[in-house]
Amino acid sequence: MIPTVEWKDMKVRMIDQTLLPIEVIYREYSDYREVVSAIKNLVVRGAPAIGVTAAMAVALGAQEIKVESTGDFLRRLEPVCDEIASARPTAVNLFWAIQRMKSFAERNRDLSVREIKEALIRESVRIGEEDIAVNRAMGRYGAEFIHDNHTILTHCNAGSLATACFGTALGVIYTAHEQGKKIRVFADETRPVLQGARLTAWELMQEGIDVTLITDNMAGHFMKQGMIDLVIVGTDRTVANGDVANKIGTYSVAVLAKEHGIPFYVAAPTSTIDLSMPSGEHIPIEERDSREVTHIFNKTQIAPEGVKVANPAFDVTPARYITAIITEKGAFYPGDIHKMKDPGADLEKIRIHPGLKPQ
Ligand code: MRU
Repeated sequence: MIPTVEWKDMKVRMIDQTLLPIEVIYREYSDYREVVSAIKNLVVRGAPAIGVTAAMAVALGAQEIKVESTGDFLRRLEPVCDEIASARPTAVNLFWAIQRMKSFAERNRDLSVREIKEALIRESVRIGEEDIAVNRAMGRYGAEFIHDNHTILTHCNAGSLATACFGTALGVIYTAHEQGKKIRVFADETRPVLQGARLTAWELMQEGIDVTLITDNMAGHFMKQGMIDLVIVGTDRTVANGDVANKIGTYSVAVLAKEHGIPFYVAAPTSTIDLSMPSGEHIPIEERDSREVTHIFNKTQIAPEGVKVANPAFDVTPARYITAIITEKGAFYPGDIHKMKDPGADLEKIRIHPGLKPQ
């Protein structure tokens, strides 16, 4: 499986996801400002991958700070972090990773500036390594819900490319495949940026998984035909009441799944859980450039010149449409997700197991 982003020779190296699957090209950045642009322009995308990349951007930015005292260093790190935080608004992993890097630097203020800079690089690499371990654990819990001969619908790309490696929703599918289960995947193309067609279909084919590409408006048809056994998607932000924000179109898929009695699962590493927000309407939804809608690949125009366009990149799926949220600590009902970060909660008691009926 291709790693999405890595720290190499004092640079951040990533596969350019804007060119996939036509071209497989790697970019290397030594300036954190270029990494911010890469996040904005979707060279790297997907909530966990954005988090890992943001952490590496902080590490890169830290190397530029030429001061003697730790206090000055920490002060100068602030605007660097603020600039990185401005890259995209919806995926909470971006803010989570920046906060983790800042707290790490703060905790290590007794070290010299040179030592903190080195330690920040190691911490960013660790965030990437932990992401892969989390995805593996989530995959094991999630695969319990997948049986032989299941056909799974997914939306957008919550795969290896959306994480440091392995994926969240696709990580569950990869795990089921590794376990020898015979499965099929239907991938929504995911207009307007086509993460499903360009990335999910490509990734699954590379791993030898049977994938059928459909346009977004076909999902209901195949559900009605009885061809979909379950839906699994990722999330950019999971809030206290179990609502989730994910790629635009996820909400429609969830409503369709409920109408057809099909389980709808969300794979959510704890890095996407934001308990500071009580419900989904508080989640900031990114509005992207209208050219994503009016043009194909920023080249071929497909809509009248000057037409009004709306282009929200994400929507919110209310908890009532979600059968279970799969995390690296187990699967939970959306209503229990707020207990996940409670050190006193007995997760064993609230964890749910396969065989459950859609809520
Ligand atoms: O705009 P993108 O491509 O960054 O949107 C990505 C998604 O919506 C993913 O489904 C989400 O980040 C979960 S990825 C594991």
